[in-house]
Amino acid sequence: MNEPIRIYVTGSCEGLDRIREALSTHPDLDFVGWSEHVAEATAALAGGHLRVVVHATRSTSFPGGEVAAIREQTRAPIVILASGESTALLEEALDAEGVADVLLLPQLTENVVFALRKAAHAGRRLVAEGGTSRQGRIITVFSPKGGTGKTVTATNLAASFAKHEGKRTLLLDLDLQFGDAAIMLGLEPEKTIYDLVVAPGELDSEKLAGYITKHTCGLDILPAPLRPEDAELVTESKLARLLEVARESYDLIVVDTSPFFHGPMLATLDRTDELLMVCGLDVPTLKNVRLSMQTLELLSFPASRIKFVLNRANSKVGMKKSEVEGALDVKIGFEIPSDRAVPLGVNRGAPPAIADTGSDFAKAIRVVAKSLLVAEQPKKKRMFAALARA
Ligand SMILES: Nc1ncnc2c1ncn2[C@@H]1O[C@H](COP(=O)(O)OP(=O)(O)OP(=O)(O)O)[C@@H](O)[C@H]1O
Ligand SMILES: [Mg+2]
Repeated sequence: MNEPIRIYVTGSCEGLDRIREALSTHPDLDFVGWSEHVAEATAALAGGHLRVVVHATRSTSFPGGEVAAIREQTRAPIVILASGESTALLEEALDAEGVADVLLLPQLTENVVFALRKAAHAGRRLVAEGGTSRQGRIITVFSPKGGTGKTVTATNLAASFAKHEGKRTLLLDLDLQFGDAAIMLGLEPEKTIYDLVVAPGELDSEKLAGYITKHTCGLDILPAPLRPEDAELVTESKLARLLEVARESYDLIVVDTSPFFHGPMLATLDRTDELLMVCGLDVPTLKNVRLSMQTLELLSFPASRIKFVLNRANSKVGMKKSEVEGALDVKIGFEIPSDRAVPLGVNRGAPPAIADTGSDFAKAIRVVAKSLLVAEQPKKKRMFAALARA
């Protein structure tokens, strides 16, 4: 079955209440929310991974200002619902960029759902035809606590993708102040993300390639700035552009993070396909993971994209995996054992995933890497099926 279509509703018009109610419970839709005013919906529009935005208007002329305000936040196609019959509105709307359809209420729910489905498929085709035929996946490794194993997981996973799965992989160190991904890989980079973002001129894939540090396992790295004070020059908008470019050059982009939701992190979340939430068997980490889940919900980050990773899963510390699952009300997707190979590898700058492949830790990382790649395939097939039908 197709994934439910994520929609968000803005504005108001006669008859919207009834149709909104019907859309919010429709099995083919994932109804993220509704705001009467576009200005109140910016976070959900920008970060909600929406497939379609529904905008309702009472106006008899085209609501150009509101459509432009929605466009500033998202490229998702817009379907307009209007209550008054108006040929002017219809004509202008159908010429407007990004407006997929206009429906005059009242309408049968199924007609509206059909229009949303059509708009969602057309939106996908636009992305595919927009010159960006390749779209790498972004896997973000996060945890709200320091020392839980984000960097160990991100570096080993990225190295595993590059070496064992033959994927063109970029490891991006977004722990901008104290990033140590390069050190864990035994590298002493000359250029970092800071040099890239302050370099003059438009960022494109050729330019990105000039700032990459290469590891012998085939992995490319964009390290964190060498000086903590340079972090602030890596802004949200620079990072947004960087990720768009990186997606064209790589199959996979693994992002290591710091335990904060700063601007560049928000730009990353907007584009994240899979968020690996690293948990540990300790109460403070679990408390903070819970809080982060609330923040992610406020940001309208889709819960289906979060995978929970239990690091040091075999530690005997008076807490079990089932208790973690109970406390967070989630399923742990992956377990990574505590293994001496990890600190040994960290101190040698040689990730066990490629340097000590027989270790329990390396085996667990391979399972994570393979599962993430398997999870990708049905999605692609679905997309092609959708395009063929559209
Ligand atoms: N599975 C494991 N087995 C043994 N040691 C581990 C494991 N995972 C992490 N460690 C150890 O814990 C230390 C901290 O891990 P790491 O640097 O990956 O945490 P982090 O979440 O990135 O922390 P920070 O927020 O400070 O960047 C590492 O130096 C590593 O030696
Ligand atoms: Mg780290």
